[in-house]
Amino acid sequence: MMKNNELFEYIFKRKSTRKYKMEALPGDTCKAIEEQMQDVMPLQEELKTEMKLLPHDAVKGLLAIKAPHYLLFFSEKKKGYLENAGYMLQQMDLYLSSMELGTCWLGMAKPTSGFENVSSLPYVIAMAVGAPAEPVHRTTEEQYKRKLKVEICSTTHHGDMIEAARLAPSATNSQPWRFRTTRSAIHAYRVNVSLLKAWLYERMNKIDMGIALCHLELAAEAEGFRVTFLQDEEAVEDRPLGTQYTITLQLEKKNDSLQQ
Ligand SMILES: Cc1cc2nc3c(=O)[nH]c(=O)nc-3n(C[C@H](O)[C@H](O)[C@H](O)COP(=O)(O)O)c2cc1C
Repeated sequence: MMKNNELFEYIFKRKSTRKYKMEALPGDTCKAIEEQMQDVMPLQEELKTEMKLLPHDAVKGLLAIKAPHYLLFFSEKKKGYLENAGYMLQQMDLYLSSMELGTCWLGMAKPTSGFENVSSLPYVIAMAVGAPAEPVHRTTEEQYKRKLKVEICSTTHHGDMIEAARLAPSATNSQPWRFRTTRSAIHAYRVNVSLLKAWLYERMNKIDMGIALCHLELAAEAEGFRVTFLQDEEAVEDRPLGTQYTITLQLEKKNDSLQQ
């Protein structure tokens, strides 16, 4: 099983892969991926979810990238299920990157008719998976096309954790996350979209939020913090203009001292 601190370093290397070698991955590689799928942590434990690693013909869609495998995510549709999907599948994105495998989130893909019923739960989103036919890692921070840290967070605490969130992937690279930090918490907010864009982006942006939460938590753990996700009434009031509150990460130093 992959440890969280090993996943953490791939935040600074991962990228989307859009060209794949079309051969199916070896059986032992698929088995390792499936074992890792079992170890993925949920954001909301009570939500029923399922992941399936499927072959090249499992997915259709106008813009679907051709890959030898697709990881499909299924979930019951209750409050928070999209953030939970982003949070869970991003753990797989980092794990697959650590195996030097290519991945790409696919927001527009749908399962083909033969694969619609592989889960009893509703389909949420897919990820292309396979041996990459292009470089699989980034080597410098400049290769990330992202907003500046000050554009997504106006407070100064926990800058390294915000950096990990800043580098997260998002649908159309929209980076809809904003943060406020204190010594003991990170409050996460999602940028509002216009009514016109809402039908397409709101769903994706909730998944994006979950992805950023995964990166934040891994970064917090790497710095020796224990993370508790909670809802904070005051953070709702204190939201940055044009955003909606999502969640708060409460940070506690593992040795129980916040002096640093
Ligand atoms: C929820 C979600 C959906 C996405 N959908 C697609 C897609 O349909 N097609 C595609 O080529 N890339 C898709 N992407 C990849 C983003 O375009 C990509 O993550 C972003 O541009 C940042 O680039 P990077 O992943 O290489 O760092 C998606 C990403 C996310 C998080």
